[in-house]
Amino acid sequence: MLQKRIKVGLLGLGTVGSGVYRILTEGNTTLGEKAGVDLELKGILVRDPKRQRLVDVDASLLTTDPGTILGDEDIDIVVEVMGGEEPARSYIEEALRAGKQVVTANKEVMAKHGAELLQLARERGADLFFEASVAGGIPILRTLQESLAGEEVEAVYGIVNGTTNYILTAMDSKGLDFAEVLAEAQALGYAEADPTADIAGHDATRKLAILASLAFNIQVPLDQVHCAGIEEITAADIEAARELGYVIKLLAIARRDGERVEARVHPAFLPQGHPLAGVDGVYNAVLVEGRAVGTLMFYGAGAGQMPTGSAVVGDLIAAARNLRAGARGNNATGFAREGKIIPMEEVETRYYLRLRVAPEPGVLGTVTGCCGAEGVELASLDVKNWGKDSADLHIRTQRAKEKAFRRLLAALGREPQIYAVESAIPIEGEG
Ligand code: NAP
Ligand code: HSE
Repeated sequence: MLQKRIKVGLLGLGTVGSGVYRILTEGNTTLGEKAGVDLELKGILVRDPKRQRLVDVDASLLTTDPGTILGDEDIDIVVEVMGGEEPARSYIEEALRAGKQVVTANKEVMAKHGAELLQLARERGADLFFEASVAGGIPILRTLQESLAGEEVEAVYGIVNGTTNYILTAMDSKGLDFAEVLAEAQALGYAEADPTADIAGHDATRKLAILASLAFNIQVPLDQVHCAGIEEITAADIEAARELGYVIKLLAIARRDGERVEARVHPAFLPQGHPLAGVDGVYNAVLVEGRAVGTLMFYGAGAGQMPTGSAVVGDLIAAARNLRAGARGNNATGFAREGKIIPMEEVETRYYLRLRVAPEPGVLGTVTGCCGAEGVELASLDVKNWGKDSADLHIRTQRAKEKAFRRLLAALGREPQIYAVESAIPIEGEG
């Protein structure tokens, strides 16, 4: 017998949960039409039922007891928007074991436990959807799983953290201070509960692991993804980038090289004309390079209540449709076999270096000598602020392996004429 109504349990009513609640309750009658069945919110798990909410919610729906939702046989779909690794992972597992459909926005759980949870979902004939876990409102995961299923993906890369992009954009366009902009991003609900996850690059690393897992059909061990955040980016870096014709973005890059995959997250200089250079504020963009399709670009809000709520509700409708059609347990593609990740030392990039040096004859020879000795060719060297006490050198290199750059930085650090390596930032998007 076809169900007329599907009951949904929500775990979490913060930024994303409130977006989901609004979309489900603000009278969009097409949701039921698209799902083929009415969706009824039966319970909402929170930590503190007395807390002031972003939405007006019927207090009788709130509970602090996860068993009320996970143990309720009437609830067919559980939506996890609590965040954090535990207890979110355990609740997802419990829901799947009970044969419930699950939707999650949790990149930490999916990046660390996606393979085993998807396996469990298959075994239990359930679905586990996680579109909102990467790039907020941009429908990139289902696109990789379904529309691009026929592609041999060569690369997937882009800007996948809204908070850091918001910060870098405001530092660049308004000359604002890092801490001030971070507070704004937190107030707008973009940042993770612990914003270090955003700033230090961990959030983008988790999203890249998920993207690469779907794009290349592999499992990506998180600890093998190179991760550097934006903590050390200064106003001087942003100014130097602008003068040389670049912008600074936190990039997430996964590229296939035969059987192996390069996977890295770090700030980078991008030419001002690059398609990703104009992606500003909380916006994200993901580029996919496929052997047959060529290059595709996906752009949209990467965080926030309503865009992320939209991605979650889209998954909820997909879960309801599968439930209604008796076609559960078929959504789990990707994460298939253990991936071989190329160590960062072997990855080739170009670099921008800024050195503070002694304003003495021979200093340029010292620098070019170190570069030559470590096999790093120079593309340009500009001398700035030659003063009584110091001078600045702005250097752009040709492509070289990361291990050569690391050796170069160590060699420069040993030279008495080099007072400081003030910046070393990869340059991307120029071949
Ligand atoms: P949030 O604003 O901190 O909300 C978390 C919600 O979960 C709160 O309602 C909290 O209850 C509840 N909660 C947390 N731990 C709980 C526990 N142990 N028991 C019961 N309830 C608990 O987080 P969010 O920004 O909505 O993010 C939720 C998830 O979506 C995270 O995985 C995040 O990475 C992901 N995500 C967020 C965004 C975004 O733009 N914010 C975008 C994409 C994905 P109380 O309200 O009572 O404290
Ligand atoms: N903290 C995340 C970000 C939320 O800023 O991108 C969206 O995943």
